[in-house]
Amino acid sequence: MTRRLEGVRGATITGTGMYVPDRILTNGDLERMVETSDEWIRERTGIAQRRIGAPDQASSDLALVASQRALEAAGLEPGDLDQIILATTTPDRILPSCACTLQAKLGAKNAAAYDILAACTGFIYGMGLARGVIGTGLADTVLLVGVEMLSRIVDYGDRNTCVLFGDGAGAAVIRPCAPEDGILSVTIQSDGVLGDLLEVPAGGSRQPASAQSLEEHGHFIKMRGRELFKVAVRGMEESLRRALGDAGLTPDDLELVIPHQANRRIIDATRERLGIPAEKVILNIERYGNPSSASIPISLDEVVRAGRLKPGDHVGFVAFGGGATWGAMVSRWTMPVPAASATAGAAVAARAAAS
Ligand code: ACO
Repeated sequence: MTRRLEGVRGATITGTGMYVPDRILTNGDLERMVETSDEWIRERTGIAQRRIGAPDQASSDLALVASQRALEAAGLEPGDLDQIILATTTPDRILPSCACTLQAKLGAKNAAAYDILAACTGFIYGMGLARGVIGTGLADTVLLVGVEMLSRIVDYGDRNTCVLFGDGAGAAVIRPCAPEDGILSVTIQSDGVLGDLLEVPAGGSRQPASAQSLEEHGHFIKMRGRELFKVAVRGMEESLRRALGDAGLTPDDLELVIPHQANRRIIDATRERLGIPAEKVILNIERYGNPSSASIPISLDEVVRAGRLKPGDHVGFVAFGGGATWGAMVSRWTMPVPAASATAGAAVAARAAAS
């Protein structure tokens, strides 16, 4: 599905936040758990370490801190929220939704809260939804959260998957703006025929939890990585081209690209096909691995707080994930550069001028 977004009011990000757990799992730690090596993991994925939640943490705990930081950045209170949209594949519980659990923790009494499950593309699906509800006037203030505790569904005896995934949360507050600003286009796609390339087979209505499902490790992620790799590169290139076309832009018009961090080689191949220089593409996979739907909002918050985006910049977002799902979004940035990063930038400039 692709839509050129016009004829309705615009929607834009007005505050961002992130949170990652303290515990770091390094490639060296994994060398002691499965037959792998730091060299293999770095070369094939670009990952050096990932964050792992504490035993007493659940997804809503990570989401809470990221959300509070995003609300503070936007200058809003939880009571100002009309909707909480939460993208995750690892909710605290199957019922109720993780968004409702987060709503209770935040005290966001006036919000409607619901989850979406689109794996690593969840944040882009959520952006399309937020743009839609704000554009049509169904909501004025939306909190969009991407959160994962993938460590809870990763088999630390399976070297094909355990080196990849990590935990974390990112959030964004989205508010109305002029139609020519903010989110210019969103494209989202899926192909359920590819569903078994990345799945958690048990724990749903097809294979409820049982002694057998536990014995077969059915509650853990199973992945056919090599096949996913190829469709991910094709899907990400195609959807970013589409979103750019819908916004009347070309890859050259982008100041920054924030891709989902699945594998450094997927990001490099996509970037090369689009002809986008490496310095315009955000990479933090080395530090966080793949935190699925939290990956893009974590990167976004780091970029915003470092002062790398200024009003008028065009930024592209692109992702691919289980489902299969994929999608992209193009936004004309409206948030001012945060004061702390502007001060830091000015101090650096002053030091450079003085030397
Ligand atoms: N350490 C050492 N060797 C390993 C490891 C490991 N951790 N994992 C696999 N290998 C071995 C394999 O067994 C294989 O050995 P063989 O040749 O003897 O059979 C060899 O390395 C090569 O395996 P490949 O699967 O071909 O390796 P590849 O280069 O494709 O890298 C990877 C694997 C990293 C999983 C890659 O395919 C990938 O990133 N795929 C895409 C993942 C993705 O995009 N997922 C979707 C998003 S995630 C989401 O939605 C939650």
